[in-house]
Amino acid sequence: MHVLALFWLLSFLLNETQAWGFKNGIFHNSIWLEQAAGVYHRESRKGRYQLTYKEAKAVCKYEGGKLATYEQLEAARQIGFHVCAAGWFDKGRVGYPIVKAGANCGFGKVGIINYGYRLNKSEKWDVYCYNPNSKKCGGVLTDQQKIIQSPGFPDEYQDDEICYWHIRARLGQKIHLHFLEFDVEDDMSCLADYLEVYDSYDDVSGFAGRFCGDYLPDDIISTGNVMTLKFLSDASVTGGGFQLQYTALNASLLT
Ligand SMILES: *[C@@H]1O[C@H](CO)[C@@H](O)[C@H](O)[C@H]1NC(C)=O
Ligand SMILES: *[C@@H]1O[C@H](CO)[C@@H](O)[C@H](O)[C@H]1NC(C)=O
Repeated sequence: MHVLALFWLLSFLLNETQAWGFKNGIFHNSIWLEQAAGVYHRESRKGRYQLTYKEAKAVCKYEGGKLATYEQLEAARQIGFHVCAAGWFDKGRVGYPIVKAGANCGFGKVGIINYGYRLNKSEKWDVYCYNPNSKKCGGVLTDQQKIIQSPGFPDEYQDDEICYWHIRARLGQKIHLHFLEFDVEDDMSCLADYLEVYDSYDDVSGFAGRFCGDYLPDDIISTGNVMTLKFLSDASVTGGGFQLQYTALNASLLT
């Protein structure tokens, strides 16, 4: 690899690891906090700022939650929930939680950046949901090794599922994914049902692949100590589901 590219990769990885963890007394990882405070951010399957108020409510409901209230969003913010994307929350309001003032986000302010009550409920934003109960699928996994299954496995999965698994190995470790069984509704571009793998602590960056059909995907090894898996099924046709095992690897063993 070119030296410059290696340098770039290293600084990128450093930034990635710094992006979450305990810093200045603030826990910098919205995904851990999702569990701590029950509040989390979602965008549409189509991308950022694509949800009307009605659709935003539906997204939270899919996952068994509902729109976060201002108080819930603020409670989450106070323990470090920081997201630079405006979303619907309770009572038709739009805003986002800012912990650390920055030039690019939140107008240099700290707090809930509140766009107020929107009269036009057809405006399109992201959403902030609240769900204190564990979801029926997904979660934050910190074990050194574990089997991940689609909901209901070995039975068929249901329509309209959304699951996020966030794998957190120890600093310096890598994560090895090995697929054991795979049967997800097939279509050309995997638009209907799919499993996505991200080499990252969220599903925004580090896209590593989208899988459907019944071919067993190849093994995947992360570059850092975090990975995110996202499973989505639409409103029709399901499949047998999938089963995979992840193993945390000591990076020193790999070089
Ligand atoms: C409401 O918002 C939508 C989406 O931004 C826009 O297309 C529509 O014109 C707005 N309606 C009014 C009355 O401003
Ligand atoms: C990885 O490193 C940890 C801590 O140094 C050690 O306890 C563990 O046994 C190692 N795992 C393997 C598979 O070598």
